[in-house]
Amino acid sequence: MNKESWGSRLGLVFAMAGNAVGLGNFLRFPVQAVQNGGGSFIIPYLVCFLLMGLPLLFIEWGLGRYGGQFGNHSTPFIFNSVSKKFIWKYVGIFGIFCNLTIAAYYCYIESWTLAYIFKSVSGAFAGKSSEEVAAHFGAYVTLSDSYMAVFFWLICLALNVYILSRGLSGGIEKVAKIGVPLLIIFGLILAFQGVTLKAGMKNAIYDGTVGLNFLWTPQFNSLWEPKVWLAAAGQVFFTLSVGMGSIQCYASFIKKKDDIVLNSLSAGWMNEFVEVVIGASIIIPISIGYLGIDKVVELTKSGGLGLGFKTLPYLFQNWGAVLAPIAGMLWFGLLFFAGITSSLAMGFPCMSFLQDEFNFTRNKAAMTFGAACLLLGAPVVFLGIYDILDEYDYWAGTVSLFVFSLLETILFVWVFGIDNAWATINQGADFKLPKFVKYILMYITPTLLIFVFVKNIPEIIDKIMHREIYHKIATTTDPATLEMLNNKLLFTNLSRLLLVAVFIGIGILVFVANKKRQKLSAI
Ligand code: ALA
Repeated sequence: MNKESWGSRLGLVFAMAGNAVGLGNFLRFPVQAVQNGGGSFIIPYLVCFLLMGLPLLFIEWGLGRYGGQFGNHSTPFIFNSVSKKFIWKYVGIFGIFCNLTIAAYYCYIESWTLAYIFKSVSGAFAGKSSEEVAAHFGAYVTLSDSYMAVFFWLICLALNVYILSRGLSGGIEKVAKIGVPLLIIFGLILAFQGVTLKAGMKNAIYDGTVGLNFLWTPQFNSLWEPKVWLAAAGQVFFTLSVGMGSIQCYASFIKKKDDIVLNSLSAGWMNEFVEVVIGASIIIPISIGYLGIDKVVELTKSGGLGLGFKTLPYLFQNWGAVLAPIAGMLWFGLLFFAGITSSLAMGFPCMSFLQDEFNFTRNKAAMTFGAACLLLGAPVVFLGIYDILDEYDYWAGTVSLFVFSLLETILFVWVFGIDNAWATINQGADFKLPKFVKYILMYITPTLLIFVFVKNIPEIIDKIMHREIYHKIATTTDPATLEMLNNKLLFTNLSRLLLVAVFIGIGILVFVANKKRQKLSAI
């Protein structure tokens, strides 16, 4: 019997907000915005947030609390409480699969932030050129100079396991109550620096507001491109952590009479504030202030990780010997708190499944989660040059989120029925949702989800067929590059096989758990 519970309402909202606020808010959002038309990205982004993100929060909080009333805390059996049709249990596999596989690479990135706190404080970047700071990161993640990245990865995993083993109120809630306010404070300090940066001060060549204007000036032509809408929807999913299975798990520990309408709105809007206000005011204004728009647009092509780890630590050096290490500590500190409050939320559903279905103790479940992350994360860590991280992120952190969200929406709104769903969401609510939300849940959210998924199909097929790698192979004559590409093909295929094996493995566990339940109920 799982005896976890939330200690307080504030703790629940902070933990849910901590789940949502993550690396995505600070590294992914600004870069997505720059790549997809700056100010015009925010329009599809807000539409997707209001018509898909918020409704999915209601659906996931509702599903979770409903399943929790029957003692179910993982999506296979939360879904089984909603519909007894056997298929829904297996749809619930996604809720464990996504959390586990995302955690496998997410904890690794989180460990970089931990290492970079120490590097910043110890002055590792002082006096280094931009190339040297960038090369430092390259060497760090490819393990070419040392195994320091492995060391910090193990520390980070151990920390996650330890906190998880302290449980919901004794571990996760405590970390969220400290981590979320701290990261907001750190973020506000850096955002203030970014926004008030002046050309000529601290070696900056442009005002910080140049970056902000660039980010927020709409280029309306990109508004009609499907790719911008896909990017906006993908960002909303990732940042809110919907379609992963973690919200349902946290919500399954909420009491029957407690509010979920105001709580889910509070956590969702807190995430948006951190993303759109704070997240947008750090990395882009500071880097554009020093490097100019063209260079930064060029740098964002390789994603947010490069800007965050290669560029910012170098730029902070312009702030002087005292402020540079402090800025580095604040930046990587906020990323670390953002990361850990999210990775804990990924661990808890996996643990709850083992505790509920296989009577694991909390410690054993936390350690099993850590061991699974270690095994699944190993290809990401040791085969870094073949971009295994991107492969995991695409299948588990992008495509699966859409599929899972669509299926759970159908389950809750159409199979369970809108009247039951509506009553579940509004049960104990501090204020009732206006009626039009019902129609958004029934028609608009599923239609948009189907639309986004269908639009993604050509890209999914290209990925499956490795079109990009084959194109590069066809156009390369350099033998070393060819060898590298062929290896990439091999390891990408192996990592996909691994992901499929994990999915099937979880499916088998769900099958066994179900048989156990049937036996018990027959006695
Ligand atoms: N929602 C988490 C993030 O934004 C996963 O990083």
